[in-house]
Amino acid sequence: MAKQTYLIYFLLFLFLTISSAHEIGGLYRHGHGNRKLFVFGDSYADTGNCPKSFAGSWKEPYGITFPGRPDGRFSDGRVLTDYIASFLGIPSPLPYKGLKSGKKLLQFGINFAYGGTGVFNTLAKEPNMTTQINFFQQLLEEKVYTKHDLNSSIALVSLGGNDYATFMATNGSLQGFPTFTETVINQLALNLKRILGLGVKRIAVTAMEPLGCLPVATASNSYRNCSESENSLTDFHNQMLQQTVKKLNNGSGDQVFVIIDLHTAFLSALNLQQNQTGISKFENPLKPCCVGVDRGYSCGNVDRSGAKKYTVCDKPQLSFFWDMIHPSNQGWFAIYSALQSSLHLQLY
Ligand SMILES: *[C@@H]1O[C@H](CO)[C@@H](O)[C@H](O)[C@H]1NC(C)=O
Ligand SMILES: *[C@@H]1O[C@H](CO)[C@@H](O)[C@H](O)[C@H]1NC(C)=O
Ligand SMILES: *[C@@H]1O[C@H](CO)[C@@H](O)[C@H](O)[C@H]1NC(C)=O
Ligand SMILES: *[C@@H]1O[C@H](CO)[C@@H](O)[C@H](O)[C@H]1NC(C)=O
Ligand SMILES: *[C@@H]1O[C@H](CO)[C@@H](O)[C@H](O)[C@H]1NC(C)=O
Ligand SMILES: *[C@@H]1O[C@H](CO)[C@@H](O)[C@H](O)[C@H]1NC(C)=O
Repeated sequence: MAKQTYLIYFLLFLFLTISSAHEIGGLYRHGHGNRKLFVFGDSYADTGNCPKSFAGSWKEPYGITFPGRPDGRFSDGRVLTDYIASFLGIPSPLPYKGLKSGKKLLQFGINFAYGGTGVFNTLAKEPNMTTQINFFQQLLEEKVYTKHDLNSSIALVSLGGNDYATFMATNGSLQGFPTFTETVINQLALNLKRILGLGVKRIAVTAMEPLGCLPVATASNSYRNCSESENSLTDFHNQMLQQTVKKLNNGSGDQVFVIIDLHTAFLSALNLQQNQTGISKFENPLKPCCVGVDRGYSCGNVDRSGAKKYTVCDKPQLSFFWDMIHPSNQGWFAIYSALQSSLHLQLY
């Protein structure tokens, strides 16, 4: 039962988000013609699409490290998208939501990711990945971008596990999990092909992070050990993803579809990678910085009188995880550092 509770939290938390299209602080490098980044997926990638009215990412203490106030990212600072954009030498692309309010900073691409979502509908009401791609297609039909614009473009597709959290929350058991994984991967493959068909030249999809190492899964043992059973679900997903991407690339000499190996990068950043020297100096890598005062509360919660129902660690830069689901600004940096050498091969 405890596990189900965690998984529901997992879903709720995967409401990553943020907004603000401006460049990300010191990360911005000058670069590179007109590369554009189009982003689809969930809270690991969302930079502000989730509604301010209820997403935790818009509440204190989210954003305390960067930009210094809540801005919709599910972190104390930057998220995966920001680091990938900085790698490409561009500012983090504007959240799609910003377009409706009239901002026009389209030259770096657009972020369509919504926290809490999956390839299928989840408990979150936000647009699933199909709908996110529909938004993109609509902009192309409106000639917001030309084929030429898309020629040097990259898509980042993040799938962190909300489909699985929803499966667990509604079906309550692991029975049928392998079959469900297959349907998730098949739908993901359709989505990836669709993005290619719309003219994006390179499509990077995330391998699933080790779900069993997220604080939501390790809280029951005081953040000491990853849950092997949940990690095996992740492994199964990632094996199927790898086979599928191999098939999708077959016939094209170029690697059109690439996997951003968040799984290995998480383990490496957490110093859990076998026979690899750890690159991180996190105090207790599995323990999150910001937590609710008890099970009923999570990071950012206040009671009716406005009193804080969470605690924040003194030094967020020493925590890999920010909350029960999401890496911190420094956590994502460690992940990015672990990914960097493969990104050089994958994204150029
Ligand atoms: C995505 O959401 C739309 C709108 O709710 C729904 O019609 C569609 O079936 C969903 N797509 C998938 C693959 O679940
Ligand atoms: C896109 O780039 C390819 C070569 O990489 C070139 O042959 C093609 O003409 C370009 N298309 C457009 C519309 O710019
Ligand atoms: C739950 O299981 C049933 C039967 O195995 C399946 O049809 C349904 O899609 C599952 N629910 C979810 C959310 O995947
Ligand atoms: C949990 O972690 C401790 C210390 O890190 C280790 O000694 C123990 O064997 C682990 N337990 C399991 C079940 O993996
Ligand atoms: C790759 O394509 C070739 C011919 O197009 C086919 O014979 C082969 O089975 C394919 N391999 C995979 C792994 O799909
Ligand atoms: C770790 O070591 C084993 C055997 O010593 C080797 O097979 C494996 O590839 C190594 N893994 C990494 C990530 O280097």
